[in-house]
Amino acid sequence: MSAFAGKRVLLCVTGGIAAYKSAALTSALVQRGAIVDVAMTKAAEEFVGPLTFAALTGRQVYSSLWDAPESIPHIRLVREAQVALVAPATADIIAKLAQGVADDLVTSALLAARIPVLIAPAMNDAMYNDQATQANLCTLRSRGYEFVEPESGFLAERETGIGRLASEDAILQALETILARTQSLKGKRVLITGGPTREAFDPVRFVSNPSTGATGIALAREAALRGATVTLVLGPTHLAPPAGVEVVDVVSAQDMYDAAVGPAQTADLIIATAAVSDWRPETTSPQKAKKGEGDLDVHMVRTPDVLAAIGREKHTGIVVGFAAETENHETNAREKMARKHLDAIAVNDVAGGRGFGAQTNALTVLWGTAGRRDLGAASKEVLAARLLDCIINDVTSD
Ligand SMILES: Cc1cc2nc3c(=O)[nH]c(=O)nc-3n(C[C@H](O)[C@H](O)[C@H](O)COP(=O)(O)O)c2cc1C
Repeated sequence: MSAFAGKRVLLCVTGGIAAYKSAALTSALVQRGAIVDVAMTKAAEEFVGPLTFAALTGRQVYSSLWDAPESIPHIRLVREAQVALVAPATADIIAKLAQGVADDLVTSALLAARIPVLIAPAMNDAMYNDQATQANLCTLRSRGYEFVEPESGFLAERETGIGRLASEDAILQALETILARTQSLKGKRVLITGGPTREAFDPVRFVSNPSTGATGIALAREAALRGATVTLVLGPTHLAPPAGVEVVDVVSAQDMYDAAVGPAQTADLIIATAAVSDWRPETTSPQKAKKGEGDLDVHMVRTPDVLAAIGREKHTGIVVGFAAETENHETNAREKMARKHLDAIAVNDVAGGRGFGAQTNALTVLWGTAGRRDLGAASKEVLAARLLDCIINDVTSD
């Protein structure tokens, strides 16, 4: 059966010469069984009439935010589709997406998209190589947008250079890979812990760490995108948790232990990213401690080890821990993996404040006796996708 059978694809056509190729692409998708909704920019309509796409898809074509406001088309289109494809993608749409502009149906829909977005740029080589376009492409890549690169060859200006829309085969293949990925955790239960914990010593003071929960949130979003039923046990953070995920808010290490250890036993995959405090004040004063003349001594005692308990009590699930190390990274991480009965561990170097609270990170995954994959340095969203790919393709198949 075709990988596209019954799949919902949102095709966004923008105003480039290659817009005529989108008609053939639409036909190819429809022939493979996809249900294709087409959204066009005003400029795209200068190149190909909506009628062409309406006839090919047998569906209404959308180009205005204002056509059917009662159904809020820009939100509905991206809720109903499993993947969005922008082909051809002009320099303009790439710039608008990088800036978060939402001034028409296509830009508004793409800004509202929680589904994977595949971008197929097509433009003159000078436009493509321009620093502004390259910077915008870089921004979009770091935010998790995916690309099917333009080809070099004959351009509409009768010059040769990079900027031709990728071939139909390349675009279909990239879409197929994304659709397969959106199913890669279908039916699986995934439990993720994220964020810091707070260990109070009076009602207004606590011991904590700079974790923001960004890694756990990115992983929860990515796992949900892949079809998993996701529970995110999240320590205090100012970041918004992802939609479509069950969020259990916790404060202390003990709360995290209580919320995570039981559910972990029935999860297929557990990823522990939370920066759980190893110690807590032995006593918590019910009243705010009064500032006296002298110093304050706080005796710290160990908190329960959430990850060790999950590793010890797991049944069939895969348990992946995180190790934030400042020295002897891989040796320490392998030792932690063995001691806590983990299946894999993602190591990040937090020396000099790296990792915590930052937008980007660099991870290396270790598993088994010698399994190792360097995921490189990237945004936390991109690393979340790479980590899940590694767990699905490498860790579980070893
Ligand atoms: C004949 C013609 C061909 C064009 N081809 C392209 C193109 O291939 N790629 C591109 O990025 N812009 C191209 N443009 C410029 C875009 O149409 C223009 O930037 C427009 O504002 C894009 O709007 P949109 O991104 O909302 O579709 C072309 C313009 C004209 C008049």
